[in-house]
Amino acid sequence: MGGMADQRAVQYDQTGGPEVLRLADVPVPTPGEGRALLEVRAVGINPYDAKVLSGRVPGTTPFPRGIGSDVAGVVTAVGPDATYADGTPVTVGDTVFGWGMNTLRERLVVRTSSVAPVPAGLPLSIAGALATPGLAAAACWDAVPVSAEDVVLVSPASGTVGFLLSQWAVRAGAQVIGTTSRANSERVRDAGITPVAYGPGLAERVTAAAGRPLTAVFDSVGRETLDAAAELGVPPQRVVTLADDDVAAEFGVRTTAAATRSTARLVEVAATIASGEVMFPVAAVFGLDRVAEAFALLETGHPGGKIVVAPAGS
Ligand SMILES: NC(=O)c1ccc[n+]([C@@H]2O[C@H](COP(=O)([O-])OP(=O)(O)OC[C@H]3O[C@@H](n4cnc5c(N)ncnc54)[C@H](OP(=O)(O)O)[C@@H]3O)[C@@H](O)[C@H]2O)c1
Repeated sequence: MGGMADQRAVQYDQTGGPEVLRLADVPVPTPGEGRALLEVRAVGINPYDAKVLSGRVPGTTPFPRGIGSDVAGVVTAVGPDATYADGTPVTVGDTVFGWGMNTLRERLVVRTSSVAPVPAGLPLSIAGALATPGLAAAACWDAVPVSAEDVVLVSPASGTVGFLLSQWAVRAGAQVIGTTSRANSERVRDAGITPVAYGPGLAERVTAAAGRPLTAVFDSVGRETLDAAAELGVPPQRVVTLADDDVAAEFGVRTTAAATRSTARLVEVAATIASGEVMFPVAAVFGLDRVAEAFALLETGHPGGKIVVAPAGS
């Protein structure tokens, strides 16, 4: 049994599938300058986490390695000069969201400049899952702004990033075509997006669905979407991809590589959800002891919404 000052954290000792994840007892850290200690309430898990876990993307920290980069939680202690990015002080009891390192644990020290107070009306399960997909979507939107004149392809539209982008584009008045599996096509259609299947023959299906030339593309698939965009004559500067930078360079399209993370932008993204303007579906919430199940669902590639782990207070 761990002492009073211990907590459970998710760790792994070698790359692999969800089965290599384990819970370790580790000390509760003390927050230093510009940092706060959180009781972690919600952590969304991302395709990126699964890529590092499996070794498809190289990890940057030694084993035993932690995992997770998004977070929402309650501040239980602050170090000196603990202020939000706008300079206001962080206070014990604040409920905050943002990003950190190895966030899948019960207690986490974060830089206070990488969190913001959770806006009223935003569920914690969403707040703790928003930074990575929300800021990626925002970076795509900032790279290729869309207005009512646009005909936009979002691929996939059923994923976390694509569903946000599609809904923002619908709200901007654009015509939006979005790829999805059959399982999610009703959700996509209900959000005002015209669903088409991803896979071979994409360009023909998009042409038939749009009825007029495409003017913008948001991609998180890679070659398949970029081939279709090129075939349909979309100018490369109106195409942005989150997929591999080498493929992006080959097609001469935009990436989000230069985007910097900002809590102000994250709060703007959160506001679109808290206000009810756009939906952010959560497929499942797991306790910390079921983290392997959470990753197994993520690794299906068809999670049906965001997967969230709720480490503490649950
Ligand atoms: N570079 C960055 O900063 C950054 C940030 C965030 C995300 N990303 C990347 O963007 C991608 C999407 O992330 P996400 O969080 O939105 O994913 P997600 O919520 O986990 O959803 C996965 C999506 O992939 C779709 N999909 C599965 N198989 C597919 C196929 N063969 N062709 C096309 N789509 C397929 C699924 O569609 P169905 O469920 O309808 O089958 C679902 O919409 C990931 O690769 C992620 O690593 C990059």
